[in-house]
Amino acid sequence: MSQAPLTHARPLRSTVTGAIRGAIRVPGDKSISHRSLMLGAIAVGETAIHGLLEGEDVLHTAAAMRLLGAWAERDEAGVWRVRGVGLGALQEPAQVLDMGNSGTAARLLMGLVAAHPITCVFTGDASLNKRPMARVTKPLEEMGARFVGRSGGRLPLTVVGSDQLVPVTYRLPVASAQVKSAIILAGLNTAGATTVIETEPTRDHTELMLRHFGATVTTERLEDGALAVTVTGQPELTGRTIHVPADPSSAAFPAVAALLRPGSELVLNDVGMNPRRTGLYDTLVEMGADIAFENRRDQAGEPVADLRVRHSRLKGVVVPADRAPSMIDEYPVLAAAAACAEGDTVMLGLKELRVKESDRLAMVAEGLTRCGVSVEVGADDSLTVHGTGKPPKGGATVATAMDHRIAMSFLVLGMATEEPVSVDDGAFIETSFPGFVGLMNGLGAAIVEA
Ligand code: S3P
Repeated sequence: MSQAPLTHARPLRSTVTGAIRGAIRVPGDKSISHRSLMLGAIAVGETAIHGLLEGEDVLHTAAAMRLLGAWAERDEAGVWRVRGVGLGALQEPAQVLDMGNSGTAARLLMGLVAAHPITCVFTGDASLNKRPMARVTKPLEEMGARFVGRSGGRLPLTVVGSDQLVPVTYRLPVASAQVKSAIILAGLNTAGATTVIETEPTRDHTELMLRHFGATVTTERLEDGALAVTVTGQPELTGRTIHVPADPSSAAFPAVAALLRPGSELVLNDVGMNPRRTGLYDTLVEMGADIAFENRRDQAGEPVADLRVRHSRLKGVVVPADRAPSMIDEYPVLAAAAACAEGDTVMLGLKELRVKESDRLAMVAEGLTRCGVSVEVGADDSLTVHGTGKPPKGGATVATAMDHRIAMSFLVLGMATEEPVSVDDGAFIETSFPGFVGLMNGLGAAIVEA
């Protein structure tokens, strides 16, 4: 039984525009924002978070951390202040933890509470409650936590945690930073060393931030080339200051819009450039995109840069499967770029797209087909987009299935098509990119309520 969406549908329409010009900072990184609230909540003392993403997904995490006993508020200057309870001291929540649309929030928090002697009930919206959770509950069960969920371990789900978990060494069967992070966060309040082995490198924000808070996290290259990440349990975590970079996954939308529109020149300030997140930008440059990475610097342990993006004629490329973890959220907007490029773009190894906020492989293929773009989905979960170098027809309404990135990607496509592109529901854009429509229109886009 799926739960009805909490928001009303917000159909939007995007029309071909002139140039995209200006200088902006897109909202803070979603992955780093979730982690900063969670780690702040288990540290001793105060954590000050500058540039926290105030999207619905992250606000759900803040609410959950409060229910678990931490204090988390935004001050008048817009800085989020979190007073932690100390590692091992999360309280049993008196209410269900509603994680909204966010797989990251649900999975990471399940790991964290699994190592506390408390019982928590997790739920989410209709999209989240369809997503597989066994990938997280299986390793956490090996450590000694208990779960009662729906079939496939799906939400709503109850976690019966324990502060007597046993450390494990776990080889990830899927390339997933969420699974890696859930195990590391459970290992944090577990005596001994917990190790996660990943054969493909996934985003390492949990590892970087844990070190920032004072934990010992080591990484070791194994003989077979895999990476072993080990956390030493029961460290002293101390409240810290965090500067959240602008989200490279959100910056992708205005960046692709600027590439597609003739005459465009756009500066995107402060964009996170963690190499495990930048696969889209590498791919766009291979396609012929004119993107300058200016003023590269480090900001609280994370690399950032200002991106200068100019209109470019793009050509199709082959995107190798091993690049997928570093651009896993960016395939829908890459597909929009590929639809306007000249020649075929072949994206390999997209199986994980099927279990995101929607089945993104199916939604992208269906939406592009409606917009007059020729695409093929391979039996090996590849996607081929046949670009002609000319604007696609457009003139369609695309289904978004409660998926923010599907909505934004097709609104970007509509800026370059012969006829406008509509999406059936832009409400979920608020989960990750609050103010998207206003920001894009301020740069020269024409996105209106449909
Ligand atoms: C995320 C990891 C990715 C990504 C998600 C955020 C994270 O999921 O798709 O949007 O913050 O760890 P997987 O690691 O499950 O691929």
